[in-house]
Order: sequence, then structure tokens, then C-alpha cells
Amino acid sequence: MKGIILAGGKGTRLQPLTKITSKQLLPVYNQPMIYYPLQTLLKAGIREIMIIVAPENAGDYLNFLGSGRQFGAKFTFEVQDEPKGLPQAFEIADNFIDDDDVALILGDNIFSHDFSANVQSFKSGAKVFAKKVEDPERFGVVELDDSQKPLRIVEKPVEKISDYALVGFYIYDNRVVELAKSLKPSARGETEIVDLHNWYLNKGELEVEKIEGEWFDAGTFDSLLKASNFMASRR
Ligand code: G1P
Repeated sequence: MKGIILAGGKGTRLQPLTKITSKQLLPVYNQPMIYYPLQTLLKAGIREIMIIVAPENAGDYLNFLGSGRQFGAKFTFEVQDEPKGLPQAFEIADNFIDDDDVALILGDNIFSHDFSANVQSFKSGAKVFAKKVEDPERFGVVELDDSQKPLRIVEKPVEKISDYALVGFYIYDNRVVELAKSLKPSARGETEIVDLHNWYLNKGELEVEKIEGEWFDAGTFDSLLKASNFMASRR
């Protein structure tokens, strides 16, 4: 399975910090943020990893991460000129993914969960992960029936449908590449990851698994601080 870390975007919610460097290079306690999603992929056994970055700080990522050899992996870098939605990652990574399945992790997502069993057992369709949160309106949210089957997924719901946020780690079969290319931008001018999930959901091929442990989307000041405090407390 190939892996992608999406570390593009403008980090507008973290200005003025992100006027100095890119969001995913900001410190989370004692490491640059991207180190955590990278470790999550490595721990899951994924060794071929594409890192998608914004043009402004591309050189810093190369300097920090290098070839991947010191991590026992192979890194490939691509530049995302303009952030046009999460599914754009699969268009950018088209040749890199080739005929393989692919796991996408968002560069600001920090997990204590170990995804190796999920990666190893993946066969086809799409597999996404849900975590109970207190602020579901910040996330993509999934409504589950009594047998944990997904009923619907809504991005940043205005009216509450469930407490289960979809975290920023996703596994897809190879069909995701063509599917991502076929998506039309939403009203905010970007393609939406919820559209990928609804495609698999409508085919009955979307699996949702609840995860335990800590999870942070470190894209806001409060969550960045919480993530740093958590990492400091674990030492
Ligand atoms: C993105 C996704 C959302 C997901 C979240 C996880 O939101 O669109 O579905 O729940 O990541 O971190 P963003 O943080 O880009 O607003």
C-alpha cells in the first residue's frame, strides 16, 4: 500500500504563525507537526510515502525529511500549487499510486492509534475511522446505525447528526484515483472528501471503524496547544 501525507494548504487558522513557516512544520511539543503523521504511516508498515506540500516551504520539507532512507522508507515530494480540496491529493499522486491501494493522512492529524492491523487487513472499497468528539461541527461526521453501519456522512454539519468525527486517516482501493478526477468542486471552489466517501457508501463499500486513544487535528491554536501538552505529558 502506498501512503500520502497531505501537508499543503495555507494554514489560515494559524496566522500569524503560518506567515513564518508552513502549518505542518510548526512545533508540537518537541517535533515538527509532520513528524507525527509520518510516524503513524511508518508504524502502520507503509514504506513508500508521497509528501504533498505547498510551494512556499517545499525546500524545508526536503531538508528535514530527505530521501526517507533514515526512516527505512522512500519519500517522494510533490508540490500542490493551490489547495483545491483533499481529493486533489489523489490526482497529484496519480503516477505514484500506480495500481496500488492508498492510505491518506492529513499532515495536521496526530494519533496514538496504531493502524497496522487496519492496513494489513484492507482488501477493497474504502475504510475510514471515527472518533467520538465534543465538537463534531468542526469535522466530517458519520451517522452509524446500531450495527455500526454508516448511514450518512456530512461535512461540518450545522445541525447535529452524531458525535462521531471522521479522522484524517483514510484507506482506499485504486478506484479512488479516477473517482477523485471526476469530482466537481463544491460551492467553496474545492472538491470534497465527503463526496469520495458517499460514492463508496452508495455502493455499500464504505467501512467505518471506531478508534480509541488520542486524536488531534492540530489545525487551530487550541488543538495545537492540546496536542503539544499531550506529547509533553507522555514523556
Ligand atoms: C478535514 C476533513 C474533515 C475531517 C478533518 C479531520 O477538515 O474535511 O472531514 O474530519 O479534516 O482532521 P479540515 O481540518 O481540513 O477542516
